Amino acid sequence: MLQYGVMSASESESGLNEIQRAASEQFARQSHRYGKGHILADVSDVDAALAGVPLNGRRRVLDVATGGGHTGLHLASLGHDVTLSDLTDAMLDRAREAEEARGLKARFERHSAEAMPYANGTFDLVTCRVAPHHFSAPERFVAEVARVLVADGHFVLIDGSVNDDEPEAEAWLHTVEKLRDPSHNRFLTPRAWTQLCEAVGLRVEVCRLAPRKQPDLEWYFETAATPAANRTAVRELVANAPASARRLFRVAEEDGKVVWWWPMLTLVARR
Ligand SMILES: C[S@@+](CC[C@H](N)C(=O)[O-])C[C@H]1O[C@@H](n2cnc3c(N)ncnc32)[C@H](O)[C@@H]1O
Repeated sequence: MLQYGVMSASESESGLNEIQRAASEQFARQSHRYGKGHILADVSDVDAALAGVPLNGRRRVLDVATGGGHTGLHLASLGHDVTLSDLTDAMLDRAREAEEARGLKARFERHSAEAMPYANGTFDLVTCRVAPHHFSAPERFVAEVARVLVADGHFVLIDGSVNDDEPEAEAWLHTVEKLRDPSHNRFLTPRAWTQLCEAVGLRVEVCRLAPRKQPDLEWYFETAATPAANRTAVRELVANAPASARRLFRVAEEDGKVVWWWPMLTLVARR
């Protein structure tokens, strides 16, 4: 059973638990890195995930942990009524700047993924991309998604994941990611996400893993401002990666640079 963060007295005073605070501080420092040039600006994975989701007309959409706003603003550009939400003010500022630069209109709300300030049945679609591995309580997040969706509404989740039943590779990836970005909490497997969805009455329609090539290790460090000692530790972990991790994440060298592939999960569920 996975363990998530526990609230202490000081955490409850700030309204954020330790894991949320770490994420918020990390993204406040690094918000400038999540703009146009970031790999997340390519939203072809979002389009692929939406292929089977009926989105005729103007739909009410919530994009959770919107970051630079790439997913939410893409949906706004398709004509939907989109709310972009995030825990981190600086990220919401970056998303607002992108909204203005692109001549789009959207709403912005600051809140955690684990507690949403909306009435039951407010949205037709909830999206969340490349963020849930930071969340302190994925089970609360999924329960909130189910609550704020209308009956028959859709949930689209895209995130780094790891194959079911690969504990050694999972532990390795978790250690690497935690060293690179200490605000990382946990990658969940496809089975774990499916169980969380089913527990709150969401019917999973699509659940697929596809490898996504990561830029080389140095880009990866710069994005998270990884401390020098952690960079060294990650390089050592990569050099000594167990066979299961080498196979699953296709760890290799190209032109003297370390490259690897992250299993990206796309999950589409219906309420
Ligand atoms: C990599 S960015 C998201 C990228 C974005 N979804 C996209 O498609 O481009 C991760 C975001 O998750 C947010 N975040 C982390 N933990 C959160 C939480 N518990 N609740 C809400 N937002 C959170 C961070 O503030 C950050 O903006």
